[in-house]
Amino acid sequence: MTAPLPISLHVNGERVEAQVLPRLNLADFLREHLKLTGTHVGCEHGVCGACTVRVDGEIVRSCLTLAVQTQGSCVETIEGLSDSGEITDLQNAFRERNALQCGFCTPGMLIAAQDLLKHEKEPDRAQIREHLSGNYCRCTGYQAIIDAVEETAGMRRERKP
Ligand code: FES
Ligand code: FES
Repeated sequence: MTAPLPISLHVNGERVEAQVLPRLNLADFLREHLKLTGTHVGCEHGVCGACTVRVDGEIVRSCLTLAVQTQGSCVETIEGLSDSGEITDLQNAFRERNALQCGFCTPGMLIAAQDLLKHEKEPDRAQIREHLSGNYCRCTGYQAIIDAVEETAGMRRERKP
């Protein structure tokens, strides 16, 4: 039987040390070991985007990332982005625009949208669609999601022209 390996990383700014099996993926590590259940697991093979998190500032599919690959990294989940206030405006826009229904896709959608907004101050609707094209939503029909991201970009430009 394969032995667990020690890993040490930061998750949402806190140091975490754990013993994990080499095959354990990051999504399951976050959900089952750390009880960070805001990271959702849908397809489990890199298609739906529900498991999106940030590792060292870049968005990744946590279902396709092994926990051991994050040794020494800084992982940020929806809980971290939410608690820090980084995406409060985006979350408010999603709520006001009815850009979520069941909410299953929403954590991944928010993290992917924030990734776009960090890199592009004035994204047009085509860019928003393209950037979110790897995040599936079964409920909203996408228009409200695009509206919410576009509105947040506009509000951020007004605050910091
Ligand atoms: Fe990771 Fe679908 S659960 S992409
Ligand atoms: Fe239900 Fe997106 S709000 S899957």
